[in-house]
Amino acid sequence: MLYRRMGRSGLQLSALSLGSWVTFGRQVGRGDARSLIAAAFDAGVNFFDNAEVYGHGESERVMGDVLADLRLPRDAYCVSSKVFFGSAESPRPTQRGLSRKHVADACHAALRRLRVDYLDLFFAHRADPETPVEETVLAMDLLVRQGKVLYWGTSEWPAHTIEAACRFAGKHGLIAPSVEQPQYNLLHRSRVELEYAPLYAEFGLGTTTWSPLASGLLTGKYQDGIAADSRLAQSGLEWLRDAVIGEGERSGPQRVARFVEQARVAGVAPAQLAIAWCLCNPHVSTVILGATRIAQLQENLDALALFERMDRAEIERIGAAVEPVTSG
Ligand SMILES: NC(=O)c1ccc[n+]([C@@H]2O[C@H](COP(=O)([O-])OP(=O)(O)OC[C@H]3O[C@@H](n4cnc5c(N)ncnc54)[C@H](OP(=O)(O)O)[C@@H]3O)[C@@H](O)[C@H]2O)c1
Repeated sequence: MLYRRMGRSGLQLSALSLGSWVTFGRQVGRGDARSLIAAAFDAGVNFFDNAEVYGHGESERVMGDVLADLRLPRDAYCVSSKVFFGSAESPRPTQRGLSRKHVADACHAALRRLRVDYLDLFFAHRADPETPVEETVLAMDLLVRQGKVLYWGTSEWPAHTIEAACRFAGKHGLIAPSVEQPQYNLLHRSRVELEYAPLYAEFGLGTTTWSPLASGLLTGKYQDGIAADSRLAQSGLEWLRDAVIGEGERSGPQRVARFVEQARVAGVAPAQLAIAWCLCNPHVSTVILGATRIAQLQENLDALALFERMDRAEIERIGAAVEPVTSG
């Protein structure tokens, strides 16, 4: 495993990590979740990503049970949660958002579900237009000082809001966000590559990036339709299917067709090439993988070997065959 510093912080995260969005507690039961976490840890993965909203808390419960059952040394792995959307099916106003109240309640609930004494990383899952950013910075600073959280960060915040949080924290001697969790893959590049560009040097921001395979699209598995056992066939995820597959000539499968073909011509799995491509960006601290079965996880973890042996220019050349969703 390769380890990278999370931005300017001293935290060393495995370059590949594992998340549980729509998998644990939904597509994947406790037994398979246990196998996935055990295999990832054995391969050197030291970061497991979660959120209050995943499975309305069930994803954190499954991960917490598995981490406890495996008896992994607490100082050998990092676990995260995220606050914003709430864990209730229909959250009341105090059960969601980034108010001091919900940030504190969500942290306490995540600690219980994950069965840990502290969260290594705690993310504000989206920016909250209903809460002053200063209130959220103060709430996160307090959790860090109380020892309940070690590092806090943001997820999909606009760059100017991250900057406002960092400046407020800097001015008042508070603990600033040190990491952002954005989507980053061959189809979604501009936020990480352009919008956040000034933040890396100025604030030492790290990134834990999500959906490296665009929910599986970049494996090539959706080129000939949607298999019944795949993510995009799950009921309740029609919105995701529409976003990933889209329609017409600029549909997801159309955008990635040349990439899938060129990867296969080069003799590499498109999934591995897509993940290796993410690792080529030095501002990516860790690429969060998703997997519903061990074979997928193994294939994806092997992207690291590909990254280490393949010429970067060649990875980028084949990656350029994808037409990104936004410019840049
Ligand atoms: N902060 C945020 O807003 C946010 C948003 C989304 C995700 N995340 C985090 O990022 C993590 C990863 O995101 P993601 O799950 O969307 O990652 P992804 O790599 O884009 O998609 C993973 C899914 O693709 C399929 N897959 C993976 N490897 C495959 C392979 N080798 N061959 C065929 N199919 C394969 C599997 O689904 P099927 O087997 O079901 O088809 C798997 O669950 C999440 O778990 C979560 O922790 C964060």
